[in-house]
Amino acid sequence: MNFFKLIFPGFVVSMAILALLAFAGCDVERRKSNAELGLNPQQAEGRKLYDDYCDRCHEAYSSRGKKGPRLQGVFKQQYLSISGLPASDDRVAEIVKNGRAKMEGFGQVMTDQQIQNLLAYLHTL
Ligand code: HEC
Repeated sequence: MNFFKLIFPGFVVSMAILALLAFAGCDVERRKSNAELGLNPQQAEGRKLYDDYCDRCHEAYSSRGKKGPRLQGVFKQQYLSISGLPASDDRVAEIVKNGRAKMEGFGQVMTDQQIQNLLAYLHTL
């Protein structure tokens, strides 16, 4: 009985730590390579831009929101979730260039070609 009292708390603590590690593991999902995602060179360029400029506020591969709404499947729906604008190349390019209320614009940072590359990547999400 004394033995059990001694071992049991240790067992509970280790199980708790294991459970925590398992949960943390779900969060740090391995980043897929461009090849695994099947990206062509233009889309891969766009992914780089996305990582530099968009990823800190928008999730690409999860339905979670960050500061902004997720962009997973952004072109698979007819309308954008917040503004209700059509999910078209033209509207999204405009948003990227000029920004929204709580999002800065990137018209000064990216060339039109870069925005096209970014859109090509967003279409793969
Ligand atoms: C500083 C955080 C931030 C960054 C960086 C950012 N966004 Fe946003 N974005 C937001 C927020 C917040 C909203 C929604 C709120 C609003 O409409 O003001 C938004 C809205 C959008 C929308 C419209 C969504 C809708 O449903 O109407 C699109 C599309 C979008 N962002 C794409 C991008 C892309 C592409 C980039 C990278 C070039 C980017 N954002 C960079 C914060 C950000």
